[in-house]
Amino acid sequence: MAKYRSWALLLVVALAMIGCSSKESNDVEVFTWWASGSEKSGLDALVKVFDEQHPSLNFVNGSVLGGAGSNARDVLASRMAAHNPPDTFQVHAGMELADYIKAGQVQDLAAMYTENGWRDVFPARLLELLTVDGKIYSVPSNVHRANVVWANTDVLTRAGVDPKHQPANLDEWFGDLDRIKATGVTPLAMGKDWTQVHLLETVLLARLGPAAYTALFDKREGWDSPQVSGAIGDFARLLTYTNADSQFLDWSDALQQVIDGKAAYNVMGDWADAAFRDQGKKFDVDYTAFPVPGSQGSFDFLADSFTLPVGSKHETAAKAWLTTVASAEGQRAFNTAKGSIPARTEMDAGDYPKYQQIAHESYTNDVIVPSLAHGAATSVRWLADITTAVREFGTTHDVDKLRTTLVAGATKNGP
Ligand code: BGC
Repeated sequence: MAKYRSWALLLVVALAMIGCSSKESNDVEVFTWWASGSEKSGLDALVKVFDEQHPSLNFVNGSVLGGAGSNARDVLASRMAAHNPPDTFQVHAGMELADYIKAGQVQDLAAMYTENGWRDVFPARLLELLTVDGKIYSVPSNVHRANVVWANTDVLTRAGVDPKHQPANLDEWFGDLDRIKATGVTPLAMGKDWTQVHLLETVLLARLGPAAYTALFDKREGWDSPQVSGAIGDFARLLTYTNADSQFLDWSDALQQVIDGKAAYNVMGDWADAAFRDQGKKFDVDYTAFPVPGSQGSFDFLADSFTLPVGSKHETAAKAWLTTVASAEGQRAFNTAKGSIPARTEMDAGDYPKYQQIAHESYTNDVIVPSLAHGAATSVRWLADITTAVREFGTTHDVDKLRTTLVAGATKNGP
């Protein structure tokens, strides 16, 4: 009897192990920073398509909240160092991805691109940002635009500012900001460190124009120009219109002040559109959006994409995730919810909310420039240096010091 019991016990343990390992092999841990609010709604929409396309696989949510990925990137770095990568992770197309490629941490997906015909469904200029030496390292899920001002129409109207009139340049915008300030409402809601870099990048773009702005990063040229000093001066002036609690807020908290009518404007990427819509707000009624004044004609570009890390424990399942990300259904479901436009070339405008139709038009017709705060323009290290300098500027307001540090950073972070 005792012998029978130990055999039975062994059988139960063995069955449990089989169950466990087969469940494990069907898991795919997807690492993102889309952990809450409208970003999670976007991810959920993509997961729904994944579940339909791959019913035997099990999505495991490895998201890390906040900071436009800065928190997630820290966690990812320690997991990589411990040889414990997620099965796939979110990364910005461009220089941020290049860091992982240089470190040998991501696998070449060229064979998947050939097998699935993906080279024909994504625009060539986007594929270039994912490709090094003919190898291609991630699958893009979406395209976002960073140079956008979001505004609460009621707050503007109460201050005598016409929400339908888009200021032509920064100087004109300063006039509107002054009018709003006079009513006692915060003119410009802003969050902490990276959101300040985001604001600075759009001001640089507005003052320098697309060619000189791009040269700051790809040629590391022009940081000592009078135009950059002028842009820092404009940035300093913009800070005088911002909320006192900015250093405690992530983007969603700062934007919430605009949604709630406690502030007039916020400069943020177009994931903001999804946050307004998620809270039942209507574009052109409750809120509006326009290019950062002076940056009209430029599309400040960033794209999220997904990788296959070296050492991914569930490669087959991770590849299935990448296939859903690339699929027309996946892109439609995700991007309609996320505020972005699809990375794939085809987009049936009628499927998308009004703001995204406008963004798509800009993406098609305007000059594309790489976003600084969102990994397209610089390495993670260079961006970290700029973020530290901008954070310090928030307390010192020392224009010369910021300019000197930015000039030094461009040399230090050379190729
Ligand atoms: C990402 C977006 C995200 C935003 C805010 C950006 O860097 O590309 O997908 O919504 O950060 O977290």
